[in-house]
Amino acid sequence: MALLPDGDPAPSDGALPASALAGLGARPFGLYVHVPFCAARCGYCDFNTYVPGEDGGERAGYLEAALAEVALARRVLGDGAPAAQTVFFGGGTPSLLDPGDLARLLEAVDAAFGLAPGAEVTLEANPESVDPLRLRALCQAGFTRISLGMQSAAPRVLAALDRRHAPGRPVAAAREAREAGFEHVNLDLIYGAPGESDADWEASLRAVLDAGADHVSAYALVVEPGTRLAARVRRGELAAPEDDVLAHRYRMADELLCGAGLPWYEISNWAAGEAARSRHNLGYWRSGDWWGVGPGAHSHVGGVRWWNVLHPRAYAERLATGASPAAGRELLSDAERRTERLMLELRLREGLALDELDPPARAALTAQARAGRLELRDGRATLTLDGRLMADAVARELTA
Ligand SMILES: C[S@@+](CC[C@H](N)C(=O)[O-])C[C@H]1O[C@@H](n2cnc3c(N)ncnc32)[C@H](O)[C@@H]1O
Ligand code: SF4
Repeated sequence: MALLPDGDPAPSDGALPASALAGLGARPFGLYVHVPFCAARCGYCDFNTYVPGEDGGERAGYLEAALAEVALARRVLGDGAPAAQTVFFGGGTPSLLDPGDLARLLEAVDAAFGLAPGAEVTLEANPESVDPLRLRALCQAGFTRISLGMQSAAPRVLAALDRRHAPGRPVAAAREAREAGFEHVNLDLIYGAPGESDADWEASLRAVLDAGADHVSAYALVVEPGTRLAARVRRGELAAPEDDVLAHRYRMADELLCGAGLPWYEISNWAAGEAARSRHNLGYWRSGDWWGVGPGAHSHVGGVRWWNVLHPRAYAERLATGASPAAGRELLSDAERRTERLMLELRLREGLALDELDPPARAALTAQARAGRLELRDGRATLTLDGRLMADAVARELTA
């Protein structure tokens, strides 16, 4: 289940050191809004989310608390706060909330910070919790991008993953989203689930392309400790994904998606051109600033990272007394920020700038390039396809 890192205590008023506020606006700035509710918990998922009937699953109180945190964010960041270039409602299942409530939250962000011209506003949605009417209302409220959890087109894979939607529903929802006026549509896929064949995976990829999505995220299934999936794997009922199968499926995805005009721009993300890339997620990978609103949400501003209490009731209680919902925080040293930046930028196709590396990292980089895992061009280093398959190991070499 979702856990929080250790760290230092966070101040109860949420205040940030002057060093973190310096340079605000020079880096990308966005807001993440975590909606911690789902209709049912999928067997593989360990995100901070609650279902009806479970302690924490009551939605009353969430909206007021999240609105209070937006106001707190504005107070803490002060008059130097930049307009939001991106807003991302993630979950959980944000599409379970009433479109009117989502619109109120977005209006509150706009009133507090302003939305930069052309701001990207994303909603994460489950295919079964949207319909043409709701999608139109969301577009009218200012949402520009939708990210639908498809996972697979194969019925037996959806069953192994405990997904509730009918196999064709995500593709239909993607088309409805386009018709409703969403500029950008992403579909999330998972590969390597128990019982998935190469043919199932290929069918999922082809279904995504047929749906007219301009962005695809494809994740290798992770068997997270404490989930129903982990218990079933432990009991021998389901097989854990095998590394060589995962590598083969990744190569299939890259070949098919790149061939269809969606080149990769981050290890797990492919998009039909620059405008279709997730600017919000690029902000994370480029070490930008973002404020995470909601239970368990994480934030980062100028080298200070903090995270909110997980439980929706504890979260709402803190905000009701005017206190910050942060459970802990961490002030990164310059060296830690450099290491983190390197690890994140390595994931991107735009790669690492060679002139930002110290001599030991450059030496390790040359060795990785000789081994065929990195490509050096125009003063930058980018992972090759082989390198992408072992990105964590490459990052370890560069930061050792
Ligand atoms: C946390 S979900 C939130 C969005 C939405 N509720 C949904 O399920 O589509 C975001 C994405 O994370 C991915 N994900 C969640 N748990 C995962 C796991 N254990 N292994 C791989 N991908 C996972 C899924 O592709 C999912 O669409
Ligand atoms: S719907 Fe999404 S967030 Fe909810 S349990 Fe399933 S994968 Fe996790």
